[in-house]
Amino acid sequence: MANMSNIRRFGTASCGLAMLLVGAAIAHAQAAERSVWSGVYTAEQAGRGKVAYDEQCAACHGAALTGGDVAPPLSGSAFLNNWNNTSAGDLFERIHSTMPQSAPGSLSGKTVSDIEAYMFQANGFPAGQVALPPAQPMMAGIKIVATKPAG
Ligand code: HEC
Repeated sequence: MANMSNIRRFGTASCGLAMLLVGAAIAHAQAAERSVWSGVYTAEQAGRGKVAYDEQCAACHGAALTGGDVAPPLSGSAFLNNWNNTSAGDLFERIHSTMPQSAPGSLSGKTVSDIEAYMFQANGFPAGQVALPPAQPMMAGIKIVATKPAG
Protein backbone atom coordinates (compact mmCIF):
# COMPACT_ATOMS: atom_id res chain seq x y z
CA MET A 1 0.00 0.00 0.00
CA ALA A 2 2.88 2.34 0.80
CA ASN A 3 4.11 1.83 -2.74
CA MET A 4 0.75 2.73 -4.24
CA SER A 5 0.54 6.08 -2.47
CA ASN A 6 4.11 6.90 -3.51
CA ILE A 7 3.18 6.30 -7.12
CA ARG A 8 0.13 8.46 -6.75
CA ARG A 9 2.09 11.26 -5.16
CA PHE A 10 4.72 11.12 -7.88
CA GLY A 11 2.02 11.13 -10.54
CA THR A 12 0.46 14.31 -9.13
CA ALA A 13 3.80 16.07 -8.88
CA SER A 14 4.83 15.31 -12.46
CA CYS A 15 1.43 16.41 -13.71
CA GLY A 16 1.92 19.75 -11.96
CA LEU A 17 5.35 20.07 -13.54
CA ALA A 18 3.90 19.39 -17.00
CA MET A 19 1.30 22.14 -16.47
CA LEU A 20 4.06 24.56 -15.51
CA LEU A 21 6.06 23.72 -18.62
CA VAL A 22 3.02 24.18 -20.87
CA GLY A 23 2.33 27.54 -19.22
CA ALA A 24 5.93 28.65 -19.78
CA ALA A 25 5.78 27.59 -23.44
CA ILE A 26 2.59 29.59 -24.02
CA ALA A 27 4.03 32.68 -22.36
CA HIS A 28 7.14 32.35 -24.52
CA ALA A 29 5.08 32.00 -27.73
CA GLN A 30 3.11 35.15 -26.89
CA ALA A 31 6.25 37.15 -26.20
CA ALA A 32 7.77 35.95 -29.48
CA GLU A 33 4.69 36.65 -31.63
CA ARG A 34 5.45 39.02 -34.47
CA SER A 35 3.04 41.04 -36.55
CA VAL A 36 3.34 43.22 -39.63
CA TRP A 37 3.85 46.11 -37.18
CA SER A 38 7.20 44.64 -36.00
CA GLY A 39 9.23 45.68 -39.08
CA VAL A 40 9.19 42.41 -41.04
CA TYR A 41 10.57 43.55 -44.44
CA THR A 42 13.29 45.93 -45.61
CA ALA A 43 12.84 49.14 -47.60
CA GLU A 44 15.22 47.75 -50.25
CA GLN A 45 13.07 44.63 -50.58
CA ALA A 46 9.93 46.73 -51.02
CA GLY A 47 11.77 48.62 -53.78
CA ARG A 48 12.44 45.35 -55.64
CA GLY A 49 8.84 44.37 -54.99
CA LYS A 50 7.57 47.55 -56.60
CA VAL A 51 9.43 46.76 -59.83
CA ALA A 52 7.98 43.23 -59.90
CA TYR A 53 4.51 44.49 -58.94
CA ASP A 54 4.50 47.01 -61.77
CA GLU A 55 5.34 44.21 -64.23
CA GLN A 56 3.19 41.41 -62.87
CA CYS A 57 0.23 42.86 -60.97
CA ALA A 58 -0.41 46.53 -61.74
CA ALA A 59 -2.31 45.88 -65.01
CA CYS A 60 -5.15 44.32 -63.01
CA HIS A 61 -4.75 45.64 -59.45
CA GLY A 62 -3.80 49.21 -60.41
CA ALA A 63 -0.49 51.08 -60.22
CA ALA A 64 -1.45 52.41 -56.76
CA LEU A 65 -2.82 49.03 -55.52
CA THR A 66 -6.32 50.47 -55.50
CA GLY A 67 -7.87 47.77 -57.69
CA GLY A 68 -9.13 47.68 -61.26
CA ASP A 69 -12.30 46.83 -63.16
CA VAL A 70 -12.35 43.23 -61.94
CA ALA A 71 -9.40 42.89 -59.57
CA PRO A 72 -9.83 43.95 -55.92
CA PRO A 73 -7.60 46.54 -54.19
CA LEU A 74 -4.42 45.27 -52.50
CA SER A 75 -4.26 48.17 -50.05
CA GLY A 76 -6.65 50.03 -47.80
CA SER A 77 -9.45 48.97 -45.50
CA ALA A 78 -11.24 46.53 -47.87
CA PHE A 79 -8.01 44.60 -48.39
CA LEU A 80 -7.03 44.74 -44.72
CA ASN A 81 -10.47 43.59 -43.57
CA ASN A 82 -10.08 40.51 -45.78
CA TRP A 83 -6.66 39.69 -44.37
CA ASN A 84 -6.95 40.84 -40.75
CA ASN A 85 -5.84 38.10 -38.31
CA THR A 86 -4.35 35.92 -41.04
CA SER A 87 -0.60 35.59 -41.51
CA ALA A 88 2.05 36.78 -43.95
CA GLY A 89 2.36 33.07 -44.81
CA ASP A 90 -1.33 32.87 -45.76
CA LEU A 91 -1.00 35.89 -48.06
CA PHE A 92 2.22 34.47 -49.53
CA GLU A 93 0.45 31.19 -50.30
CA ARG A 94 -2.53 32.99 -51.91
CA ILE A 95 -0.25 35.01 -54.21
CA HIS A 96 2.19 32.18 -54.93
CA SER A 97 -0.48 29.67 -55.95
CA THR A 98 -3.17 31.86 -57.61
CA MET A 99 -1.47 35.03 -58.91
CA PRO A 100 -0.85 36.58 -61.37
CA GLN A 101 -4.28 35.34 -62.38
CA SER A 102 -3.07 35.13 -65.98
CA ALA A 103 -0.16 32.80 -65.02
CA PRO A 104 -0.63 31.31 -61.50
CA GLY A 105 2.44 29.69 -59.96
CA SER A 106 4.86 31.40 -62.36
CA LEU A 107 6.63 33.55 -59.73
CA SER A 108 9.54 32.44 -57.53
CA GLY A 109 9.17 32.53 -53.76
CA LYS A 110 11.64 35.39 -53.64
CA THR A 111 9.65 37.50 -56.09
CA VAL A 112 6.42 36.81 -54.20
CA SER A 113 7.99 37.86 -50.88
CA ASP A 114 9.41 41.02 -52.49
CA ILE A 115 5.95 41.90 -53.83
CA GLU A 116 4.41 41.17 -50.43
CA ALA A 117 6.96 43.52 -48.85
CA TYR A 118 5.86 46.24 -51.28
CA MET A 119 2.20 45.55 -50.40
CA PHE A 120 3.03 45.87 -46.69
CA GLN A 121 4.74 49.19 -47.36
CA ALA A 122 1.75 50.42 -49.37
CA ASN A 123 -0.52 49.48 -46.45
CA GLY A 124 1.52 51.57 -44.03
CA PHE A 125 3.36 48.81 -42.16
CA PRO A 126 6.87 49.88 -41.12
CA ALA A 127 10.08 48.59 -42.73
CA GLY A 128 12.69 46.91 -40.53
CA GLN A 129 16.19 45.41 -40.62
CA VAL A 130 15.36 41.89 -41.84
CA ALA A 131 13.79 40.95 -45.17
CA LEU A 132 10.58 38.97 -45.42
CA PRO A 133 11.71 35.37 -46.03
CA PRO A 134 11.10 33.75 -49.44
CA ALA A 135 9.03 30.75 -48.29
CA GLN A 136 5.62 30.25 -46.73
CA PRO A 137 6.49 28.30 -43.53
CA MET A 138 9.04 30.94 -42.48
CA MET A 139 6.31 33.60 -42.65
CA ALA A 140 3.52 31.71 -40.94
CA GLY A 141 4.42 33.26 -37.57
CA ILE A 142 4.01 36.83 -38.82
CA LYS A 143 0.45 37.99 -38.14
CA ILE A 144 -1.39 40.46 -40.34
CA VAL A 145 -3.18 42.88 -38.00
CA ALA A 146 -5.06 45.75 -39.62
CA THR A 147 -4.65 48.31 -36.85
CA LYS A 148 -1.48 49.05 -34.96
CA PRO A 149 -1.47 47.33 -31.56
CA ALA A 150 -1.25 49.71 -28.58
CA GLY A 151 2.17 50.10 -26.98
C1 HEC B 1 -5.02 39.19 -65.01
C2 HEC B 1 -5.40 40.03 -63.87
C3 HEC B 1 -4.62 39.83 -62.58
C4 HEC B 1 -3.26 39.90 -62.38
C5 HEC B 1 -2.17 40.12 -63.42
C6 HEC B 1 -3.05 39.72 -60.97
N1 HEC B 1 -4.24 39.55 -60.33
FE1 HEC B 1 -4.55 39.29 -58.32
N2 HEC B 1 -6.53 39.09 -58.60
C7 HEC B 1 -7.19 39.23 -59.82
C8 HEC B 1 -8.61 39.00 -59.62
C9 HEC B 1 -9.68 39.07 -60.72
C10 HEC B 1 -8.79 38.70 -58.26
C11 HEC B 1 -10.12 38.36 -57.56
C12 HEC B 1 -10.55 36.98 -57.97
C13 HEC B 1 -9.71 35.96 -57.28
O1 HEC B 1 -9.72 35.96 -56.07
O2 HEC B 1 -9.02 35.17 -57.94
C14 HEC B 1 -7.48 38.77 -57.64
C15 HEC B 1 -7.23 38.59 -56.29
C16 HEC B 1 -6.01 38.81 -55.68
C17 HEC B 1 -5.77 38.74 -54.25
C18 HEC B 1 -6.81 38.49 -53.18
C19 HEC B 1 -7.27 39.85 -52.65
C20 HEC B 1 -8.17 39.76 -51.45
O3 HEC B 1 -8.40 40.79 -50.81
O4 HEC B 1 -8.63 38.66 -51.13
C21 HEC B 1 -4.46 39.01 -54.04
C22 HEC B 1 -3.74 39.07 -52.71
C23 HEC B 1 -3.86 39.23 -55.33
N3 HEC B 1 -4.82 39.09 -56.31
C24 HEC B 1 -2.52 39.54 -55.53
C25 HEC B 1 -1.94 39.67 -56.80
C26 HEC B 1 -0.53 39.92 -56.99
C27 HEC B 1 0.48 40.12 -55.88
C28 HEC B 1 -0.32 39.94 -58.33
C29 HEC B 1 1.00 40.07 -59.07
C30 HEC B 1 1.95 39.03 -58.80
C31 HEC B 1 -1.61 39.74 -58.98
N4 HEC B 1 -2.57 39.59 -58.01
C32 HEC B 1 -1.81 39.74 -60.36
C33 HEC B 1 -6.60 39.53 -61.03
C34 HEC B 1 -5.23 39.63 -61.27
